[in-house]
Amino acid sequence: MDRAERIAIVTAGLLMSVFFAALVYSAAGLNISLPTCVTNVAPFTAGKIIDKGNNHYEVHMVARMWAFDPPEVRLPPGADVDLYLSALDVTHGVYVEHTNVNLMAVPGAVNAARVRFDTEGEYDVICHEYCGIGHQNMMGKFVIAKGTAVPPGAQPRAQPVAAGAATAVQLGKALFETKGCVACHTVDGSPSVGPTMKGLYRHETEMEDGSRIMSDEEHIAEEIRHPGKHVVKGFPPVMPEVPFTDAEINGLVEYIKTLS
Ligand code: CUA
Repeated sequence: MDRAERIAIVTAGLLMSVFFAALVYSAAGLNISLPTCVTNVAPFTAGKIIDKGNNHYEVHMVARMWAFDPPEVRLPPGADVDLYLSALDVTHGVYVEHTNVNLMAVPGAVNAARVRFDTEGEYDVICHEYCGIGHQNMMGKFVIAKGTAVPPGAQPRAQPVAAGAATAVQLGKALFETKGCVACHTVDGSPSVGPTMKGLYRHETEMEDGSRIMSDEEHIAEEIRHPGKHVVKGFPPVMPEVPFTDAEINGLVEYIKTLS
């Protein structure tokens, strides 16, 4: 064997051992957990925050067009979070601002990462995998604040939204802002992926098939329940069906009615 060849092989071998040692050291010595795909966790379809005690939480997050569930995760400072991530429709990405969390959300699979939130503040959750027309507006949030308490056991997914909503309008506004509606609909009349909600109530809209429909309470509720049935002219038929309860749909309608 040529001398230069031997040097190249030995150098490559040494480099590989250095890299492997660094990997072992960061995982075992520095306790840095690497993002991973967990195969022993069944894919889930709803978000959940589970208090494991000792300021340790398990967060199940679901990505879908174009929102995260739960849309907002409130935890106390110092929280250790095991983040489990899945997707409902297409592949999304999750980057949590100011952390090392950078995962892909894949339908039918669960990816996981461990993160510790030492500093109080808001950490935006951003979708960084192109997932369709509302992609750039797909966002969630971790809010780390003193005095935040997560009830023991599983936290129902609607709770962060419904809590503090005294009226139907408040509930509707909270849902509108956290369930992905804002990714495509503005409330100030400016254009977006979908029609603006400003002035929608009692407005007559031209549909793709040429018909004209007056947006009364019944029609707005119908559009939320079955988005593909009537498509507004000039807009792509991309609105996803989100499973809302009757009370939630009523809240959304009441909220939209206030936007005239
Ligand atoms: Cu979800 Cu991009």
